Amino acid sequence: MSTESALTIKLKLNNGIEAPAIALGTYNSEGLQPKVKDAVKAAVKGGYRHIDTAWIYGTETYIGEALAELFAEGVVKREDLFITTKVWPTHWNDPSKSIDESLKRLGIDYLDLVLQHWPLTFKVDADGNPLMNDGQFVPDDGDYLDTWKKLIALYKKDNKKIRSIGVSNYTIPYLERLLKETDIVPVVNQVELHPSLPQVDLVKFSKDHGILTEAFSPLGSRGAPLLKLPIVETLAKKYDASPAEILINYHVKSGRLAAPRSINTERLAKGFNSVPLTADDLKSLDQEGIDHPKRYVNMGFAKSVGYENWSEDKP
Ligand SMILES: NC(=O)c1ccc[n+]([C@@H]2O[C@H](COP(=O)([O-])OP(=O)(O)OC[C@H]3O[C@@H](n4cnc5c(N)ncnc54)[C@H](OP(=O)(O)O)[C@@H]3O)[C@@H](O)[C@H]2O)c1
Repeated sequence: MSTESALTIKLKLNNGIEAPAIALGTYNSEGLQPKVKDAVKAAVKGGYRHIDTAWIYGTETYIGEALAELFAEGVVKREDLFITTKVWPTHWNDPSKSIDESLKRLGIDYLDLVLQHWPLTFKVDADGNPLMNDGQFVPDDGDYLDTWKKLIALYKKDNKKIRSIGVSNYTIPYLERLLKETDIVPVVNQVELHPSLPQVDLVKFSKDHGILTEAFSPLGSRGAPLLKLPIVETLAKKYDASPAEILINYHVKSGRLAAPRSINTERLAKGFNSVPLTADDLKSLDQEGIDHPKRYVNMGFAKSVGYENWSEDKP
């Protein structure tokens, strides 16, 4: 098997900027966020060059601490890294504030990519904090596309502070409206994507319009259930690779980005080898989810967007 690292693969965005195809996912549940500091340090030392975070994850501060140490130790410079963060729907009307808060916590002065986290708007309270009702975000009556328009204005004003803008959790009808009503094509649409949810129509539509698709939850989210899919195990045996390497190469060999998450520093230090999956292998992986679709991220607040293969059993 090839021992070439898949972490060096880069993809060109529609604005000419290159992004490392594999990003370190940094969502972590309550209590685990501080572990992200060591995870980022191990990942960067292991060869990761792209970090995916979000205002809502509560991990930006720990990433900032890791970056400060990595820069001070001379492991990497700011320009060696590609850093993505996202604007949560409570900031739908003021993404600039969210971006400034993210930059401050990360301890950096520019972002490589800012994503609109969901095509939704949520209310804030009098102090500007998320308004919650029974632990749930409260929908606002704003237009989600206003957030994208404001991101365009910020990008046009200063593309050194925000080098690229993109979206997340957009479906085809949402992308169609965005393309019709605004004049910047998102560089990326980050969506749940893996062999159990191959989203072939969305991926093709995006490709046809110059939008790169980025896979979130590429291992099936918590507990990485997709490592046990028979087709993944079969391909892992065929290529003498790990199941995680098959799941990640499924994206990068298809010209997509992927954001796998881990806080296991041993795993992070190992990275992912490049696996020469063939067009037929990629087709078999797609076929798994065409035949047996399963979505793992079914957040209640997002149901109104109208995603396919929504499971009511999940929180
Ligand atoms: N845009 C959005 O709305 C959105 C939504 C969800 C996620 N995301 C992004 O996508 C990232 C990844 O998605 P995710 O966090 O849902 O999950 P994921 O990457 O599919 O899976 C994470 C799980 O896999 C485990 N894992 C990782 N590598 C493994 C390996 N080699 N062997 C066994 N287990 C392994 C991790 O445990 P250990 O930590 O113990 O390794 C963790 O439990 C997020 O962190 C976030 O950055 C974005």
